[in-house]
Amino acid sequence: MQTQVGIIGAGPAGLLLSQMLHLRGIESVIIESRSRDAIEATIRAGVLEQSTVDLMVEIGAGERLKREGFVHHGIELRFGGRGHRINLHDLANGRTITVYAQHEVLKDLIALRLRTGGVIHFEAKADAVEDVATGAPQIRFTTSNGQKQVLRCDFVAGCDGSYGIGRSAIPEGSVRHDYFRIYPFGWFGILAKAPPSSDELIYAHHDRGFALVSTRSPDVQRMYFQCDPNDSVDNWPDERIWEELQTRVEGDGFRLKTGPIFQKGIIPLRSFVCEPMQHGRLFLAGDAAHSVPPTGAKGLNLAAADVHVLARALSSCYATGSTDLLADYSRTALRRVWRAQHFSWWMTSMLHRFHDAAEFDLKRQLAELDLVTSSRAAATTVAENYVGLPLT
Ligand code: FAD
Ligand code: PHB
Repeated sequence: MQTQVGIIGAGPAGLLLSQMLHLRGIESVIIESRSRDAIEATIRAGVLEQSTVDLMVEIGAGERLKREGFVHHGIELRFGGRGHRINLHDLANGRTITVYAQHEVLKDLIALRLRTGGVIHFEAKADAVEDVATGAPQIRFTTSNGQKQVLRCDFVAGCDGSYGIGRSAIPEGSVRHDYFRIYPFGWFGILAKAPPSSDELIYAHHDRGFALVSTRSPDVQRMYFQCDPNDSVDNWPDERIWEELQTRVEGDGFRLKTGPIFQKGIIPLRSFVCEPMQHGRLFLAGDAAHSVPPTGAKGLNLAAADVHVLARALSSCYATGSTDLLADYSRTALRRVWRAQHFSWWMTSMLHRFHDAAEFDLKRQLAELDLVTSSRAAATTVAENYVGLPLT
């Protein structure tokens, strides 16, 4: 099997890349270990930056997103029992965010890719990436019926997420350096059948820990609360979850609208960057190269930004023969990655309860929240980072 760009992973990074390459006349094949049904049912991100929405529209995948996504002009930071609005639209030059679930993005991208002749091998697991330092790299993979296959290509894009195999083809130590931060807490996430409790997302700071009120549709709500990463969902019957969430968003008479919870899960929080994001003819994009705690809502958006840079570099190489943009890929992508790392860490450190924190740290967090909600300059910093930088 042969193609121009071999892509591992049909997540946001792999699918967006494949479609952008297609629009520039470049052929690709995607190898994806999970089934289409599993991908389209996995609940993850919900917030799209303005530039991610613009990119979806530009590549022809924006029709349903524009119709069904919810544009938000602000977010609320809640602390000390009161809500404080950050007006994203006014502070960030008219830019906004859109709430549209990641699995809906994936449904739209998979349908579009298949409609436009794209090749996606579902339930095919990449086992190894080889010969990336030569002009003819290849991906070894195993199909659902156990057949071993080889995909030969000009370039390999490792879009295989945090637990993929792409990264391991960059020699650790001599070439690759991994930067980590593990947080001592996780997020307990729920989906509930209930009406929205608020018109905008609420990020709440509370003595008992962080909580986030998000949404999916007029009758499905997404909420999270900070928890022990080793806790079990079995310890949390619905009533206990609602009580905990309500306590953490209390004040001003604010009441959550509750309903049956139909999905529960715990995710660990971590910050991670792998440098460089390329080696020979292998290029990493999205969670394969970095992850951020979800507090800044940046992960999916960073994946989109990476492949925007990569698609342009690959098409420049095919069109002109010049590898200049490809050589610069990692450096270009990492600038935004580290900006997003900083913002996600900052939001996390400002809003979460650290168990070893002294009273001093709690007071400092409240002072910081006061600053970002009362100083226009500080609020602008939050707004500009939250809606995201324009694509480069
Ligand atoms: P992935 O989505 O992980 O896709 C990688 C794909 O590669 C997967 O389909 C996987 O099956 C496949 N794969 C892995 N290994 C192999 C292999 N060996 N062979 C073949 N295929 C393989 N981000 C935001 O921007 N905004 C948010 O609001 C937000 N909220 C989040 C909330 C939660 C609860 C979570 C968990 C994440 C959230 N994120 C958010 C982060 C976002 O979901 C990820 O950053 C995003 O999915 C990254 O996309 P990706 O394509 O790089 O990787
Ligand atoms: C979500 O709706 O899933 C969501 C929203 C904002 C975040 C993280 C997740 O910061």
